Amino acid sequence: MQFSTITAFLTLAMAGTGLAVPVDAQAAPAEALEARAPAQLIDLWGDANFLGLKYTGTAERGACINLPSNFASIITSGKARSGLKCTTWINTGCSGTGFSFISSAKFDSWIDNKSKSWKCIAL
Ligand SMILES: *[C@@H]1O[C@H](CO)[C@@H](O)[C@H](O)[C@H]1NC(C)=O
Repeated sequence: MQFSTITAFLTLAMAGTGLAVPVDAQAAPAEALEARAPAQLIDLWGDANFLGLKYTGTAERGACINLPSNFASIITSGKARSGLKCTTWINTGCSGTGFSFISSAKFDSWIDNKSKSWKCIAL
């Protein structure tokens, strides 16, 4: 008698959980899809003060991108798009020493003209 009462209660509790899950499951994939979608994340320029040759990087957040050969080793200033922290590295594959910035930056002399790859993540 007691056992079947508990069983009935658990069945109701699980049914209640079962009703709540599809609501959450609908929201989660939509957000995940948005985060994965490639978007313009970074702007990099060949000269200081956001002048000269301009590169706009489109990628998924968290993806490492190697700069194309015409932009590798010429970058002097950059801007991260809103809500992002971007890093450029002295080597391809986002390896070696990295230079991180939020909003905008004139690159320090040690990284000036040395960036070969970049990655942006959410703040
Ligand atoms: C970076 O390249 C620019 C353009 O060639 C040059 O004027 C500048 O001196 C370079 N910076 C460094 C630190 O070598």
